Amino acid sequence: MSLYPLIRPLLFRMDPEWIHRATLTVVGKAGHIPSVRGMLQGLLTVDDPRLRVEAGGLAFPNPVGLAAGFDKNGVAMEGLASAGFGFVEVGSVSAHPSEGNPGRPRLFRVPKDEAIVVNYGVPNDGAEAVARRFASAQPSRPPVPLGINLVETNTGRPAGAEEVVEELVVAMRPFLGLADYATLNLNCPNTTSGRSPFDDPGTLGTLLSGYAAYDTMPPTFLKVVPTTDPATIEGTLAAMDPFPFVKGIVFGLPTGKPYEGLKTPPQALDRMPGTLCGRPTRELIDASIQAWYSRMDRDRHVIVGIGGIFTAQDAYRKIRLGATLVQVYTALVYHGPGLVKRINRGLCRLMARDGLDRITDAVGVDNPHPKPRPKPRPKPHPTPHANPRGTVDE
Ligand SMILES: Cc1cc2nc3c(=O)[nH]c(=O)nc-3n(C[C@H](O)[C@H](O)[C@H](O)COP(=O)(O)O)c2cc1C
Repeated sequence: MSLYPLIRPLLFRMDPEWIHRATLTVVGKAGHIPSVRGMLQGLLTVDDPRLRVEAGGLAFPNPVGLAAGFDKNGVAMEGLASAGFGFVEVGSVSAHPSEGNPGRPRLFRVPKDEAIVVNYGVPNDGAEAVARRFASAQPSRPPVPLGINLVETNTGRPAGAEEVVEELVVAMRPFLGLADYATLNLNCPNTTSGRSPFDDPGTLGTLLSGYAAYDTMPPTFLKVVPTTDPATIEGTLAAMDPFPFVKGIVFGLPTGKPYEGLKTPPQALDRMPGTLCGRPTRELIDASIQAWYSRMDRDRHVIVGIGGIFTAQDAYRKIRLGATLVQVYTALVYHGPGLVKRINRGLCRLMARDGLDRITDAVGVDNPHPKPRPKPRPKPHPTPHANPRGTVDE
């Protein structure tokens, strides 16, 4: 039985950012002690061959990963990699260190909706410092893929597309040979126009060409704003197409709180600047998974499903719509570290119910769209569209 429901009321009385930092310190220290790592693994891991996933050339012991933003600086990688996750994503990290957004508080709990509003503004220690932690974690971490999520440095001043491209490419350099995979957070904290430069597939192509110059570029995922708009999806897929190291996409979140039917009063939400994460984002991303899966080349690309995963059923639904892997964050805040084990056990039960031998057999079975026929993709070109820019707030 989990003790988390007993201590949660106490934790929820404290400042969320302070709790976040304290948790990382505890997990960071615990993860440096081999016996504690072993204990965490024993307590929190579900070791079941049916859960294993091969994707993007990587082997995942289970499909449930830790999303970016929890361990932004890689200070608790060893402990987190021992806590039952199938993979752990560190970051977002930028080429240069950043303090993030200046105001406080910048993290808000929204318990009535099982959500969090985040306005951190991607604070982090910078790529060089975080890469040194990757290097020192190598010998002592369990064999789950460890990824690095890269973002533009939050300087608070607008940056041109060329500058953003250059610094995102530079940010990867210290992680070459260290990170098992990379995620490119295509949301840009410095834009004032309401759009990301990567809304333009041409700029995305230029960015990917920059990474293609690295001989050892690891499998890479693009973190994109969820959308069902065919032109936006086709534009991004066309930009990804020439780059074999790009293995798939994961969804970020639209800025703000564009959700209907929240239980929290609007006046309360108005006092929380930032992007809403958690349960209310579920339907938006489910619809996006369905739309992307039906268009992408499934032999080359996978989807990492994210957004409001609180139960095994939530994860299974995203998998059945087309996600090969999933990631969680907000539900950990509400349900504690036993969550991943419960999801993995639940996935095994759901597979057994449906007569499936492996979790990968469930991928896309509920997607009503037939497998797309291979077709020549249009050349990337700058298509303006109405897709809202992703969060500036993480
Ligand atoms: C406090 C917090 C910080 C986050 N920071 C980042 C970040 O630095 N980079 C990033 O790509 N996503 C970040 N995210 C977004 C998560 O990775 C994830 O996409 C989102 O929370 C949706 O998953 P969830 O509903 O399970 O929370 C952050 C989310 C939260 C709640």
